[in-house]
Amino acid sequence: MSQTVQKLAILGGEPAVTVDASEQWQRPVEEEMKLIRELVEAGQISMSGAGLPKEFEEQFREYVGAEYCLALDHGHTALASAFWAVGCGPGDEFITPTVGYIGAFAGALHMGARPVFAEPDPATLLMDPDDVERRITSRTRFILPIHMGGNLCNMDRYLEIGQKYGIAIIEDASHCHGAEWDGVKIGSVSDITCFSMQGANPTGKPVAAGEGGLLTTNNRELYERCLVYGHLHRPGLVEELTNPAYKIFDATGLGWKFRAHPLALAIAKVSLDNLDYRIALSDRYTAEVFSFLEEIPGVRVPGTYPKAKPNYMYGGLKLVYEPDELAGLPIERFVEALKAEGVPVGRIGLGHVEHLRPIFQRGFDLWGHDRGPLGSDWQPYKMGDFPIAEDLHSRVFSLPNMVQPAEGLLEQWRIAFEKVTTNYGALI
Ligand SMILES: Cc1ncc(COP(=O)(O)O)c(C=O)c1O
Repeated sequence: MSQTVQKLAILGGEPAVTVDASEQWQRPVEEEMKLIRELVEAGQISMSGAGLPKEFEEQFREYVGAEYCLALDHGHTALASAFWAVGCGPGDEFITPTVGYIGAFAGALHMGARPVFAEPDPATLLMDPDDVERRITSRTRFILPIHMGGNLCNMDRYLEIGQKYGIAIIEDASHCHGAEWDGVKIGSVSDITCFSMQGANPTGKPVAAGEGGLLTTNNRELYERCLVYGHLHRPGLVEELTNPAYKIFDATGLGWKFRAHPLALAIAKVSLDNLDYRIALSDRYTAEVFSFLEEIPGVRVPGTYPKAKPNYMYGGLKLVYEPDELAGLPIERFVEALKAEGVPVGRIGLGHVEHLRPIFQRGFDLWGHDRGPLGSDWQPYKMGDFPIAEDLHSRVFSLPNMVQPAEGLLEQWRIAFEKVTTNYGALI
């Protein structure tokens, strides 16, 4: 039947999508259980730098082609180690996307540094390097590009900016294990790269451990600093510290213990083993979805930078709604109509928009006694400070990331989008 005579489901017609929308790929739980059982039986449930934890670090290090790799308990502790490693402290500033995440930069905040937010590039939805460059001051200690949703920031520009101003670039690659920039795996591109391993596949981070983090670097000094900072009683810690300044440390380093739990790494190992398999399937899914959406009026697929090979496996496939192409139909109505057709559209918005958080709008006495980076001398952010981010936040929606959709599902989604955009006049 022609789309033009079909009644929209939201107006009482038949929904376009009848195929089961659930993920068909199944996590190999038995493989995880086998590794976990071996560790539990051997009593290897509190260790690092040896056994399975060390093997996993080596496997990830080789996978991304980096010199050094550490497995940690969370992505945010990996990031905190990186911040400390590049010398972050009170009075510093760091630049991070307002379309970002406090869970990424919390470590720097707690070290007394102030976040300086930057606008997204509307073409990619990722932090705009030109805007970042404008916000650099003598206090900028590091820049934190976040590869949100697995699309890759313009790393050539960030590396160039880092060199030009002598500022460290720390990548947050929590959403994009396995992605590549100019043929090089993310993890081996900038000064330090950090990854979260939170969640369970297929919906968790691309390499998922339940809870966990990873840090990779090609810089020996940064590696040693990360060891000192958070790897209390890691076997070989003292021997690994070659910088004479660190000879004062015994095996406790600075006292934090940020190491990953071995049982979490057993799960992560299975996840890393099948990462390339999942990437191949998810790339196929994403290409198919983006290709039919390119033809749909009112929907814009965000672009990628030419050297990027993203990994769209986490955070939803972000799409920009262009109301002008549908006579101003409000996004809420558009999304409701798609949902009624059976398309599992996610929440409207970009997820986190940091300058809109109350603590960055009002400040907060983080250390008590009016001390800390957000005290009374904090210059608050306000609505209107980031017009590009705010505009996108009001008209971005998402589809789920998937590894293996059911047969026929994507064709029905295509039909649903065509049905809504052909008959949108009935919604106005
Ligand atoms: C972009 C980003 N950075 C950092 C983190 C923090 O990772 P974790 O939850 O493992 O500490 C997350 C977690 O969701 C994240 O999405």
